[in-house]
Amino acid sequence: MRMLDLILKKKNGGTLSKAEIQFFIQGVTHDTIPDYQTAAFLMAVCFQGMTPQETSALTEAMMYSGDTIDLSEIHGVKVDKHSTGGVGDKTTIALGPMVAACGIPVAKMSGRGLGHTGGTIDKLESFKGFQTALPIRQFMNQVNEIKLAVAGQTANLAPADKKLYALRDVTGTVENVSLIASSVMSKKLASGADAIVLDVKTGSGAFMKTKEEAVNLARTMVEIGKHMGRKTVALVTDMDQPLGKSVGNILEVKEAIDVLKGQGPKDITELCIQLGAWMLVLGECAADLDEGKAAMKKSITSGSALESMRQFIASQGGDPRYVDDPSLFDSASYLIEVTSPGSGIVTHIDAEGIGRAALVLGAGREQKDSQIDLAVGIVLNKKVGDEVALGESIATLHVNDLSKVEESELILLASYLIGEQAPEPNPLIYAVIQ
Ligand code: URA
Repeated sequence: MRMLDLILKKKNGGTLSKAEIQFFIQGVTHDTIPDYQTAAFLMAVCFQGMTPQETSALTEAMMYSGDTIDLSEIHGVKVDKHSTGGVGDKTTIALGPMVAACGIPVAKMSGRGLGHTGGTIDKLESFKGFQTALPIRQFMNQVNEIKLAVAGQTANLAPADKKLYALRDVTGTVENVSLIASSVMSKKLASGADAIVLDVKTGSGAFMKTKEEAVNLARTMVEIGKHMGRKTVALVTDMDQPLGKSVGNILEVKEAIDVLKGQGPKDITELCIQLGAWMLVLGECAADLDEGKAAMKKSITSGSALESMRQFIASQGGDPRYVDDPSLFDSASYLIEVTSPGSGIVTHIDAEGIGRAALVLGAGREQKDSQIDLAVGIVLNKKVGDEVALGESIATLHVNDLSKVEESELILLASYLIGEQAPEPNPLIYAVIQ
């Protein structure tokens, strides 16, 4: 087989066989295909698309390009949750303890990654002493003992995806349904969960800007999951404005703790309840969605989710006192109010813009080796539909480097639209695909 023939076949709208796709992924994994040919192939896929069979074959080949994790020593149905990413998305940090408190084993491998804030692993390191490099045995034992462990990804999971993603990032080939679906699902499948709940975001802060695109991605991923014998459900959820009020690592962890105390913003709390309810249903800990939602709510009101969080933090070497006293977390040196240039009602907040404003302050990584400042970020004091007066604070910047304030403030102000009429609120959940 020659890579050039595969590129031409896809460029001309042909359908690749399973063997051809395996040849491609083997070549990417073992560096026998040069980046320029891989990039040309990816661009051809962006223009011509892939059939469901091709997408499944691509996912399977990527899943088996490295290690696959065997979680069978963990008792019970292992249910994983994955979000396609958005601004202020701290769901995993609250949801893990909530579902663990209801008896679902949560064995999560998480990453750091590029973006406007760090990944879940970075956020959890906000707890002094928290260890994420867990040996696999300790990881499994911890899940069996307290139902929850989150480790940094050490295994060589889907290495073909790592290489492809790095190339897609710099060749304008990220936004393709088959490429995104195979990238996400190959990693989820390799990390060994029995069932998967997907949170597919749509709106100004998501990869998928329209609901139709998001539903299409959700359907594709659910089909792949089922084809590979895993129970899979996708919720298509709103990311047209940031989730909750906080964007930035420590700020987001504090907001997740607020959710566990029943004091979190309504949108993130409701999303955790809905995603968790599906996890309980797939994990056979709830007979139906209503029972699942009731159990999720009870995990908050009874304090069991908060207790699960304390145990989880302590088991991984962190200081559990932070859960009860968030003033122990590091804080930024300066709090700067961004005030409204007019009065009226907030009609839109561009989520991506808020993400960039937080990134400028140092909350995220622009490059793989950039240093994150865990304490900085943004708290939104006004969200869509809120009334605002001229000169009133719309957001608070948490800052350590004052030289970054002007740029961040400009981006933030440009992200807010203030008008006269309150818009129809977006639904939190647009669709459930199963
Ligand atoms: N997240 C992934 O892991 N892969 C993609 O392609 C897009 C988002």
